[in-house]
Amino acid sequence: TSDVQADLKHVLYTKEQIQQRVAELAAEIDKDYEGREVLLVGVLKGAVMIMADLARALRSHLKMDWMAVSSYGSGTQSSGVVRILKDLETDLMGKHVLIVEDIIDSGLTLSWLKTNLISRGPASVEICTLLRKPAAAKVDIDVKYVGYDIPNEFVVGYGLDFAEKYRNLDFVGTLAPHVYE
Ligand code: PRP
Ligand code: MN
Ligand code: MG
Repeated sequence: TSDVQADLKHVLYTKEQIQQRVAELAAEIDKDYEGREVLLVGVLKGAVMIMADLARALRSHLKMDWMAVSSYGSGTQSSGVVRILKDLETDLMGKHVLIVEDIIDSGLTLSWLKTNLISRGPASVEICTLLRKPAAAKVDIDVKYVGYDIPNEFVVGYGLDFAEKYRNLDFVGTLAPHVYE
């Protein structure tokens, strides 16, 4: 079928809830970065929606750049071995970097990325993620801004994909089992 809604089990966060939470995160970030310029680093492709909304909710001076990374290994599970598919165009020396992600699952991608970015000499590196799955964590990472902690369920929408689909949904939902079984 071509009906996307039929593939979903239930809505976890509505468009309105996400927009409200992103506004709250933006207010916190504005306060913390007062008087400093922040470089938002969006991790392609999942972070596209949160980057676009967060950037527009922020009042601070900011710049945006993008990275694309890929974890080696079997399809849906990240392995911790990360390859840069597209690097930043910005020199991070002395910059206040805020990595923006849609979700932290095992934490392996961000753990690697944070270490990688710190090695480039920025003034600071922090992380903002819309979603985090504490039960799936394989590494401890310090995440300053978290939208929601969620159960260890497969979620899609608002940037999150299953086989590259569902990223365009303006809400976050769980996928019906018939889609992935
Ligand atoms: C997803 C998600 C995070 C990462 C989290 O990206 O957007 O970047 O996995 O997983 P981890 O915490 O277990 O490392 P994915 O690699 O699917 O690429 P995408 O953003 O293009 O969908
Ligand atoms: Mn991603
Ligand atoms: Mg993905």
